[in-house]
Amino acid sequence: MTKIVLALSLFVVSPVFAQKDGKTQQSKPQEKTPAQQPAQKFDDKAMIDLATKKGCMACHQIDNKLIGPSWKEVSKKYTEKDVDSLVNSVLNGSVGKWGNVPMTANKGIVTEAEAKQFVLWILSLKNK
Ligand code: HEC
Repeated sequence: MTKIVLALSLFVVSPVFAQKDGKTQQSKPQEKTPAQQPAQKFDDKAMIDLATKKGCMACHQIDNKLIGPSWKEVSKKYTEKDVDSLVNSVLNGSVGKWGNVPMTANKGIVTEAEAKQFVLWILSLKNK
């Protein structure tokens, strides 16, 4: 089991690191509380690609509920004040906020910085 998970996460993670590191690094230095931060511009397609590579899209869609809530719904329920809580949900898993189906932990699949990028991007979908 551990082997399978390990193999799976290596498979999923390695190509992405090479490709995405630049982005993650860039956003690090100006890491303030999101409220102070001017709305960040996201490349939706790049974020969807990353979410696909990280396995998020097996359970989520932008517009429609799948196993998890649609990300637009998520963006409407929360504000920038909830970023830390949402990052925690993504990293450690979550249950009971949307129903009885749990989101499994994604720690080891995404870094904390990546989880934060996802959360900020998801919140930005509100107006789309
Ligand atoms: C195994 C299926 C599954 C995967 C994979 C998955 N999610 Fe989820 N996600 C869910 C479910 C189910 C919920 C609702 C959990 C709840 O009710 O608390 C959820 C909830 C969320 C929420 C809202 C959390 C909250 O506190 O309300 C966010 C944000 C989210 N997912 C982002 C992601 C991201 C980003 C990824 C990829 C790194 C991901 N999810 C991968 C199933 C999944």
